[in-house]
Amino acid sequence: MNDVMSIKVNVNGTQYERTIEPRLLLSDFLRHDLGLTGTHVGCEHGVCGACTVLLDDEPVRSCLLFAVQANNRRVTTVEALGTPDNLHPIQEAFRERHGAQCGYCTPGILMSLVPFLQENPDPTEEEIREAISGNLCRCTGYQHIVDAVKLAAERMRA
Ligand code: FES
Ligand code: FES
Repeated sequence: MNDVMSIKVNVNGTQYERTIEPRLLLSDFLRHDLGLTGTHVGCEHGVCGACTVLLDDEPVRSCLLFAVQANNRRVTTVEALGTPDNLHPIQEAFRERHGAQCGYCTPGILMSLVPFLQENPDPTEEEIREAISGNLCRCTGYQHIVDAVKLAAERMRA
């Protein structure tokens, strides 16, 4: 039988205790063990950014971490941002400015943007493009995303 380890992790404000294999990726733990399928998996080797979540408020690629590395830490996924009836201002701006098309990249981009806008509430277009440069989008050409971030930043400053 494979070795297993017990972990305690706070995900979106809920404390979980699970016994898992040490090789389990954080992305698979979130999606398969906790059912949080908002975190998407694209390349599975750290290139596309679709799997971005926050680990103690820092954006990380969950496909590059083992779940055991989140032991005694806090993880925030896109599920914590808003609900369909009560969208986060960044989600609302994406909706209004068509920042998502197929939506596959969107959760990762949103989770990259949350800490970015906290640190830089009035970003230039260049800074926005730099902030999402680690998130690949095959649909939008990025301009609608940039427009959405500008709108969200403006509203969040008000
Ligand atoms: S799935 Fe993690 S970076 Fe692509
Ligand atoms: S909206 Fe389709 S990959 Fe970005």
